[in-house]
Amino acid sequence: MVTVTRPYVAFRPPNSPLPVRFRGGELLGRGPGTEVYRAYDQELRREVAVKLFPADPDPIACRRVADEALALDRLNHRGLVSVLDGGLHRSRPYLVMQLVPGQSLSARLSAGPLPARPAVAMVALVADALAHVHSRALVHRDVKPSNILLDQYGLPYLSDFGIALLSGQARLTDVGEVLGTPAYLAPEQLVGGPLGPAVDIYALGLVLLESLSGRREYDGANKMQAALARLDRPPRVPEGLPGQLAELLRVMTHRVPGRRPTAVICTQALARASRLPSAAYQLPLPRQG
Ligand SMILES: Nc1ncnc2c1ncn2[C@@H]1O[C@H](COP(=O)(O)OP(=O)(O)OP(=O)(O)O)[C@@H](O)[C@H]1O
Ligand SMILES: [Mg+2]
Repeated sequence: MVTVTRPYVAFRPPNSPLPVRFRGGELLGRGPGTEVYRAYDQELRREVAVKLFPADPDPIACRRVADEALALDRLNHRGLVSVLDGGLHRSRPYLVMQLVPGQSLSARLSAGPLPARPAVAMVALVADALAHVHSRALVHRDVKPSNILLDQYGLPYLSDFGIALLSGQARLTDVGEVLGTPAYLAPEQLVGGPLGPAVDIYALGLVLLESLSGRREYDGANKMQAALARLDRPPRVPEGLPGQLAELLRVMTHRVPGRRPTAVICTQALARASRLPSAAYQLPLPRQG
């Protein structure tokens, strides 16, 4: 007789905010208005991450945006967190995602900067994932350290693709929302210009800078000032980087979207830079003021 053992046995907490199909429900983290839980999905028979969104008073709109997020099925890349399912529970839209066991890049960076070569190699993988997104004529629009999840080997997964859809495009059209997450917005997102793949390249340039320096390039208590600072001055590229990498960072964060390289070019240039001998980097990089 064959005995089938379940891979994961968990009980359902009595006050679980998740639909009944999910067992367990450890809170992994929170975003603005969102919660992400680790759970066992009895339908898909695997461990997943379930992200709950704020309740929307219009249930039909919720259903539509969840369906739109599922349409992102056509994205399939090992550097993208896959969306497995979605729905509506007690008026809250939710997404079922691939679980990435590890920590977000923002959590990792709160412990200090990454060494230069692994940082460049990690961002090269994110650029490759973005190249896939852009090749499907889609734009992520919310590239930032909390949306880059690192697995137990430090490999990155870009998450929250399509979250702009679930937020009803609010990030891009509502000024209050824009100022809620201003740190990685491209200049054209602030001034209402046309948005294309170049907004992701700009954000990725800032993510690389932050990974190297350990601090946000445009930050401060006053979100409005922090947001507008990028219109006044370009990001400060750390000294001690190989010249080609420093130049790549400058063009990735160029004020003019058309001057930024494509994700494919970034992937190639970053992969090359990650293979440079350590002597090419003045390690550790000098601290910036
Ligand atoms: N698929 C996942 N696997 C494992 N952990 C995840 C997953 N998705 C999110 N998390 C964790 O949950 C945290 C909160 O994610 P969430 O997307 O709700 O907030 P955020 O990224 O800070 O903001 P935003 O809503 O703007 O994306 C993340 O920082 C991460 O630690
Ligand atoms: Mg997120």
